[in-house]
Amino acid sequence: QPRIGILTGGGDCPGLNAVIRAVAKSLMRQCGAEVIGIEDGFAGLMEDTPRVRALTWDTVSGIVMRGGTILGTSNRADPLRSAADTERVLRHVAALGLQGLVVIGGDGSMSIAHGLAQHGLRVVGVPKTIDNDIPGCERSFGFDTAVATVTEAIERLQTTAQSHGRVMIVETMGRWAGWIALEAGLAGAADVILLPEIDYDIEAVAAVCRAREQHQRYTIICIGEGAKPIGGQYTVRATVEGSPDPIRLGGVAHALAAALQPRVRSEVRATVLGHVQRGGSPTPFDRVLATQYGNEAAQLVMAGTWGRMVTLQHGRLGSVALADAAHGNRRVPLDDPLLRAARQIGISLGEPSV
Ligand code: F6P
Repeated sequence: QPRIGILTGGGDCPGLNAVIRAVAKSLMRQCGAEVIGIEDGFAGLMEDTPRVRALTWDTVSGIVMRGGTILGTSNRADPLRSAADTERVLRHVAALGLQGLVVIGGDGSMSIAHGLAQHGLRVVGVPKTIDNDIPGCERSFGFDTAVATVTEAIERLQTTAQSHGRVMIVETMGRWAGWIALEAGLAGAADVILLPEIDYDIEAVAAVCRAREQHQRYTIICIGEGAKPIGGQYTVRATVEGSPDPIRLGGVAHALAAALQPRVRSEVRATVLGHVQRGGSPTPFDRVLATQYGNEAAQLVMAGTWGRMVTLQHGRLGSVALADAAHGNRRVPLDDPLLRAARQIGISLGEPSV
């Protein structure tokens, strides 16, 4: 009877449970596999005693709509950081009798999976992140849900902005990629969308607000957390004394508000959506995508096609070598049709007027 391990690594996102369910059910039904859930990502394999639990048909049933991950996850566990950790992980995998491992994670987890594959581990990856920035994959599950959450937030900000005639700035997650800000900004009818890929001109942003003060009275600005002004510095993360990790401070919306306020007449307010974007129940789209990814990962496992990450390219399900997904991130290309559409319908991307 085959024995396959499964873990979720890195930041959580809606749809993880739908993947776990699909991987496990597919493997159980099609080849009678025993599926072993590893707790808290790679951390569960790095400790002296591995933390694992057998998954049953029942434990993976009824979870498709649940946010987060039933297995738990960890951000910082990287078994490649030391040879002893790498060796311990490989030893545990062998001792548990796992013939292979399904790793559901973002770019960090894919690069760990790739590194472990080079040490002989048989692994299949599933791309996960609300940021939608994994190389070789045009849509990661979790992204659609995050966009829906941000869109709803922008709609709520619209009504209060209208009532007060204010400039409302909403900051989205996405790290160095502007996908969430771009798609939610379009869906929520933001007037200005600022992305990490296009440094913004504060005067151009202020000019939009001033023009709207004359007629509509209010302005909605959607800004990705990795955006910065022309000539400015990234403020996406800051180190807080006493914290083991650099933590999020929600810098960019407040920095923009401070720069904008002296340039406009109306009051400026900033909202940082933060981890709200990662929580809650996945959208139907994400549930379906996650189910397809999970099932596809199981097919790769059963075919013995290791060292690959399942993916969606040009709308088609497939897989890419882990090596191709392991490095860098997929940012919004400057010729992306969504950018063109935004400009053409009069949304400002903060570009200087020529
Ligand atoms: O990569 C997903 C993500 O939510 C990013 O959008 C964000 O910058 C980061 O993770 C937040 O990480 P943490 O939960 O460690 O603050």
